[in-house]
Amino acid sequence: MFSVKELVESSTMQSVPSNYICHKTPEDFMLNYETENIPTIDFLQLTSSNPNERSNAIQQLGDACRDWGFFMLINHGVPETLREKMVRVGQSFFDLSKEEKMEFAGEKILDPIRYGTSFNLMVDTALFWRDYLKCLVHPHFNAPSKPPGLRMNVELGSQVLVINCYPPCPNPELVMGLPAHTDHGLLTLLQQNHLGGLQIQHKGKWIPINPLPKSFLINTGDHMEILTNGKYKSIIHRAVVNTNGTRISIGTAHGPNLDTIVGPAPELVGDDNPALYRAITYRDYILLQQSNELDKKTCLERIRI
Ligand code: OGA
Ligand code: NI
Repeated sequence: MFSVKELVESSTMQSVPSNYICHKTPEDFMLNYETENIPTIDFLQLTSSNPNERSNAIQQLGDACRDWGFFMLINHGVPETLREKMVRVGQSFFDLSKEEKMEFAGEKILDPIRYGTSFNLMVDTALFWRDYLKCLVHPHFNAPSKPPGLRMNVELGSQVLVINCYPPCPNPELVMGLPAHTDHGLLTLLQQNHLGGLQIQHKGKWIPINPLPKSFLINTGDHMEILTNGKYKSIIHRAVVNTNGTRISIGTAHGPNLDTIVGPAPELVGDDNPALYRAITYRDYILLQQSNELDKKTCLERIRI
């Protein structure tokens, strides 16, 4: 396996190798900068002991999920030192030697620890400008034994941790870090180092996202859309790369137990509101998503009734 990082660090590379060049359309370059701002949700207000303040915040959260599927979370209580440490130890994994990293190269989609590149080499037609480390961290916590510091304790939720490494690229407009996709799971929390690159699709346009300092970016995932029978949409997003430096982003997808069968909540389905999605286990859904090429159609289309 050739990682992007090793490719970039091999002194021979002058321009992007042809197997990384993505087919792009004019729409792919249409960005919307004049933007309405993505919503901000204040966790302190969500958990306030003042019922009015709390109900206000819950209302805002519902609006954000319905209208955007994407928001920034502030006052979340995760110390900045811990967030910085996550990025530091995340990056230090990619700085291990090739041999050390290859000890953690998983073969199967749901291997507990999986180091890899692009999206899924079995299905990618163009390679993506991205290396990654994925760990299943709940209910059983898995993490590589090195570098030291990566074995953090994560106690809450059902989570898959993804650390993305997007090395600098001489021709960023020719490649994609991660093409347009939606995330599996209910909610994804994302943090990044000092470099941006995330863009979300809103009303048909791509919006570059510059998160507030110290905030987490949160997006609703496919299982939120399935569970709410389409009321809260799973938002399409992508990651572009840059020439300046290595971008690290860390996402945690929160979902149910892998064996849970997820379908639309019965309360939200009725005669006027037929179920829009087939119910399948979370495990089968992840396998379905990860074994099909990205950037064709979202995985939700595959289970739409
Ligand atoms: C992902 C993802 C975006 C980013 O890992 O699913 O969308 O900004 N990452 O790296
Ligand atoms: Ni994503």
